[in-house]
Amino acid sequence: MTQTNSGSFSLTNNRTGESWDLPVIDGSVGPSVIDVRRLYGQTGHFTYDPGFTSTGSCESGLTYIDGETGVLLHRGYPIEDLAEHSHFLEVAYLLLYGDLPNREQSDEFVNTITYHTMVHEQITTFFRGFRRDAHPMAIMCGVVGALSAFYHDSTDITDPHARTVASHRLVAKMPTIAAMAFKYSLGQPFNYPQNRLTYAENFLHMLFAVPTQTYEMSPVLARAMDRLLILHADHEQNASTSTVRLAGSSGANPFACIAAGIASLWGPAHGGANEAVLNMLNEIGNRDRIGEFVKRAKDPDDPFRMMGFGHRVYKNHDPRARVLMQSCHEVLEALGVEDPLLDLAMELERIALEDEYFVQRNLYPNVDFYSGIILKAMGLPTSMFTVLFAVARTTGWIAQWKEMTEDPTQKIGRPRQLYTGPDRRAFRPLADRG
Ligand code: CMC
Repeated sequence: MTQTNSGSFSLTNNRTGESWDLPVIDGSVGPSVIDVRRLYGQTGHFTYDPGFTSTGSCESGLTYIDGETGVLLHRGYPIEDLAEHSHFLEVAYLLLYGDLPNREQSDEFVNTITYHTMVHEQITTFFRGFRRDAHPMAIMCGVVGALSAFYHDSTDITDPHARTVASHRLVAKMPTIAAMAFKYSLGQPFNYPQNRLTYAENFLHMLFAVPTQTYEMSPVLARAMDRLLILHADHEQNASTSTVRLAGSSGANPFACIAAGIASLWGPAHGGANEAVLNMLNEIGNRDRIGEFVKRAKDPDDPFRMMGFGHRVYKNHDPRARVLMQSCHEVLEALGVEDPLLDLAMELERIALEDEYFVQRNLYPNVDFYSGIILKAMGLPTSMFTVLFAVARTTGWIAQWKEMTEDPTQKIGRPRQLYTGPDRRAFRPLADRG
């Protein structure tokens, strides 16, 4: 616990004149919070914050975001430094264990994750129950949820060793399951993981290798994949992470909780946005039609939103988007891809950033704006984009789940509501209902 109390916040009921002092708690950096845990007991009122725009739901030491200045830190380390100098498994260790590993810890962790990458052979038969045209995110929800039926020995959340093994299994097996979902959709054989490869290389190998020829590993693609994984590893209390925590707060096992996170991530306002960006760019089609879509995005009567723009927390550039923009150019150059969609994306970015509507609302390109273009260049279909996000975010989800489960003050999450339905009324038999 690093929190300290610093004074209080006064709350007055203008109707009755009563007032209460609410404690203010400071974190290590960033805004303080008003502690409302006793509010209902003292005042008989709940707070009302649908969408949780002003609500801190937990205490956490993993990730800090300053949305006003565009800062993202994992355990204090800026995301730009991690993306430049680290690699995904080191970031996973950092998130799970609180600090960067020394050489010995790093070797041991990499070895452990590497030797957990295979999935139970019976999972391959489980896959065959899905339709070939199933969306890979639907498969991910099902298969990851089913892991609790395959790995009973790591579902006892009261056992610290079981919690650690479950976290290692999840980080290790997600790329294998994701690649199997992709191969299944193509009708190609599954690839077993290769222990000689790094995490990112192994993922690329399982996604793209075929038994009939040797897969040539591109260092540029491996680096870009590693960066994508680092940049998506954790992002504080977003919708899917909050979902994992809420599911876990009841004592549900970690595999079930991560499956809940995958379901939440799937939505187009969250992880599904990178898929939505590509669909939108395809729909726009060419530069001449950008104006028409910008106009639609600004029309309050049109539900259309410019996908890949805006963020609940960042009201400045998304620092992950800056790193990915560079990766995006590297990948396209290395692959020699002349992608008209990239030109379209760059033009859209330019126009939107100069448009008063976007400027006034601080709607900058977010991480999904660029990740979709990179993944497309790598050869992945749009339906796999959110799957990749899920592979990376599993590290953050499970680290957040562990942090919550190991917090002795943890309680089941149980929000209340502002009820606006009918008051008590008498039941009317069917015959009397007109
Ligand atoms: N296009 C057009 N207008 C927008 C957009 C957009 N993408 N995003 C926000 N606005 C407008 C919105 O209409 C509102 O305008 P007004 O004040 O006139 O009513 C204003 O900006 C504030 O929007 P909001 O809905 O209150 O903002 P929010 O914080 O609830 O929404 C968001 C955040 C990410 C859901 C939203 O910006 C959005 O839908 N973006 C497109 C989807 C997307 O790219 N999502 C990926 C998010 S980053 C990855 C992740 O963390 O999951």
